[in-house]
Amino acid sequence: MLIRYKKSFEKIAMGLLSFMPEEKEVKKLQSTIKEYENNPDWHLFLWKEEDILGAVGIRFENQVNVIVQHITVNPSHRNMGIGRKMVQGIKEMYAEKYAVCSNDMTERFLDKCQDTEEGKDGTSLES
Ligand SMILES: CC(C)(COP(=O)(O)OP(=O)(O)OC[C@H]1O[C@@H](n2cnc3c(N)ncnc32)[C@H](O)[C@@H]1OP(=O)(O)O)[C@@H](O)C(=O)NCCC(=O)NCCS
Repeated sequence: MLIRYKKSFEKIAMGLLSFMPEEKEVKKLQSTIKEYENNPDWHLFLWKEEDILGAVGIRFENQVNVIVQHITVNPSHRNMGIGRKMVQGIKEMYAEKYAVCSNDMTERFLDKCQDTEEGKDGTSLES
């Protein structure tokens, strides 16, 4: 399930975010996590099963859009549906009031999730 980031998860969250190609530099990573802690428009969620296995970060834009700007899963737990479940969780929280969209960093995976929802890749969420 998705839980909200809090300071005590800082290390695990930074470890997860560091898997994003744009977040490799420590300085960038530190400024990103600070932004999630301090900017009221930025919200970071963690995917928790027994352990914390993923992270998804969003930013409110113009009170209209929710931009999914970070999405990352522990490499040992990829291809098990966690990424899709995080996208679904964000949509369940926000899609009623906001347009949930991607940015350059998340576009490929969000498009992939959208294709799956629409059955374009031969599968569907219901099946
Ligand atoms: C992208 C990421 C979050 C997916 O998490 P996941 O839990 O493995 O995703 P799911 O198990 O729900 O879905 C797996 C599917 O997504 C596809 N996929 C993985 N990474 C992808 C990417 N960057 N772009 C498009 N599709 C991707 C897989 O090939 C797989 O496809 P299939 O179902 O047709 O076999 C994970 O690969 C990751 O942490 N990547 C590093 C961080 C990153 O680059 N994030 C930005 C992605 S645009």
